[in-house]
Amino acid sequence: MNTPQKPDIRPANPRFSSGPCTKPPGWSPDSFSDAFVGRSHRHATGKERLKEVITRTREVLGIPAGHHIAIVPGSDTGAMEMAMWSMIGARGADLLAWDSFGATWAADVTDHLKIDDARILKAPYGELPDLAQVNFSRDVVFTWNGTTSGVCVPDGEWIDAGREGLTFCDATSAAFAMDLAWDKLDVTTWSWQKVMGGEAAHGMLVLGPRAVERLQSYTPPWPLPKIFRLTKNATFDPAPFAGITINTPSMLCVEDALNSLKWAQSVGGLRGLMARIEANAQATFAWVEGAAWIDFLATDPASRSKTSVTLQITDPWLKDQDEDFRHNVGRHLSALLDGEGAAFDIANHMAAPPGLRLWNGATVEISDLDALFPWLDWGWAALKERGGVNG
Ligand SMILES: Cc1ncc(COP(=O)(O)O)c(C=O)c1O
Repeated sequence: MNTPQKPDIRPANPRFSSGPCTKPPGWSPDSFSDAFVGRSHRHATGKERLKEVITRTREVLGIPAGHHIAIVPGSDTGAMEMAMWSMIGARGADLLAWDSFGATWAADVTDHLKIDDARILKAPYGELPDLAQVNFSRDVVFTWNGTTSGVCVPDGEWIDAGREGLTFCDATSAAFAMDLAWDKLDVTTWSWQKVMGGEAAHGMLVLGPRAVERLQSYTPPWPLPKIFRLTKNATFDPAPFAGITINTPSMLCVEDALNSLKWAQSVGGLRGLMARIEANAQATFAWVEGAAWIDFLATDPASRSKTSVTLQITDPWLKDQDEDFRHNVGRHLSALLDGEGAAFDIANHMAAPPGLRLWNGATVEISDLDALFPWLDWGWAALKERGGVNG
């Protein structure tokens, strides 16, 4: 067999990781030169920086005035778990799981909080559960975009506007990328490391009025560590939502988040970010459709993620390879392209079926994706020519 010819051009930025995601174009460590470091975050300037993150976030995402926004510890996981630990248990809960994070939140409720009445609505990787089965008289926990499966909800239409329960939405890889239905989201969380290309240290927690009402009217039966506490004397504590964080934040990460938010505003805010993502996704989708060896993991185009695009290798040749190779095929291809400096971190998530995952978020330049596609084709041909990994 002929050795396939390597493409001439490499992506100028080969970072296609689905988290932490690549920094905004033009980012450099110089963006930290004005960071408020080595100083107290309780100083007026520190508080101003924290508040500025909240204000710019509200502006970019169009978060309604009645929703409260906080910077909290522990990245998205911290934000999601503090919300569940603070509010779940007042009524039954429907837990939606179609990727590893949804499954984690479901396990939190069933195995750790152990509430009496919890129901898991699960779908295999690549699919959504039947959203018509969700009962909104109960609390509903779901992930807007399953980063590990590449499947997202198509919109917020399926959420009951007159619901009695609360919705808890993990929007980690959807915020700044997709239109979130704020009036239907009582709790929303994400971390800075995804679409904004920020650092992972802190989480964002957005509470709608109904979530605040729950905090005032319900006290969970389990103890809450300090970093989970959203109430003081059984009353909603507004301090974390005014930039007075529960514990000490990294002002370096805060500065980085501000840099990302300013960049988002410079490209036209949410609409500008979404336009960049749409262009990226269309380029990737067109390449996948033209490639004979690879296909989408997400079967339905309506729920196919445009940020975390997941792919499975369909080349019949793969079926004849040994199980270990088939299981690790994404990692082998990713390692090959990493070694060439053509693409970093594009293997499937460890919990997902074998294949590739390409981040197409707003900080990715379409020119880098265009340069990547020939390398993906080359990489697959090269792996095959070697007769798999050990050939
Ligand atoms: C959908 C989703 N939820 C939660 C997380 C966890 O985020 P973090 O590690 O920032 O807490 C991730 C990270 O990849 C994610 O993609």
